Amino acid sequence: MDRAEKVLAEIEEQSRKNPLVIIGPKRGMILDDAILKYKPKTVVEIGTLVGYSAIRMGRLIGPGRITCLEIDEEMARVARRNISDAGLGGVIDVRVGDARELLPKLEGIFDLVFIDAKKDQYLSYLKLVEPKIKRGGVVLADNVKRFASEMQDYLEYVRDSGRYKSTYIESESSFDPDGDAVEISIRR
Ligand SMILES: C[S@@+](CC[C@H](N)C(=O)[O-])C[C@H]1O[C@@H](n2cnc3c(N)ncnc32)[C@H](O)[C@@H]1O
Repeated sequence: MDRAEKVLAEIEEQSRKNPLVIIGPKRGMILDDAILKYKPKTVVEIGTLVGYSAIRMGRLIGPGRITCLEIDEEMARVARRNISDAGLGGVIDVRVGDARELLPKLEGIFDLVFIDAKKDQYLSYLKLVEPKIKRGGVVLADNVKRFASEMQDYLEYVRDSGRYKSTYIESESSFDPDGDAVEISIRR
């Protein structure tokens, strides 16, 4: 097992004992499929926790850059350690702060944005990063079933504004027997 797979397995094991709000292996496969399908080279992740989803993306991205935004300093420290243990320190950069302050300062254009921070702020994050998403770029949002009531404005925007082609993909959840879902929205 390579270093990244080993760290992912360790985080999953830890989460079985003390549940962590990570994307997990089931919805993580949807994230993996998006990375393999769209082959992004520049990614921004909003909400990193211990680095699980960042490592999932980093192990598949090849030469590329993932910028992670995490508000909690202690979580960012744990994420950096996990990313380093996974051998992905050269690919993934973790920045500490509120994504609503960091996003306007990011330079460059992004091929993929993964949104997984505060559920009622998804639309604010998207509007801040939107000018930096390339045409045909991908926006992936987690927990769109479990927390749908908190992100109704986000879901209406990606589905009805005409700016995105948006798809809802359901999967299992370790937190909810009814499952959860990911929304994948392609910038027109
Ligand atoms: C669901 S967890 C992220 C899980 C991670 N994406 C994964 O699947 O491994 C949400 C994270 O977003 C962070 N967060 C919440 N509000 C934020 C904000 N405004 N800016 C940046 N990070 C934020 C929290 O501290 C938490 O670590």
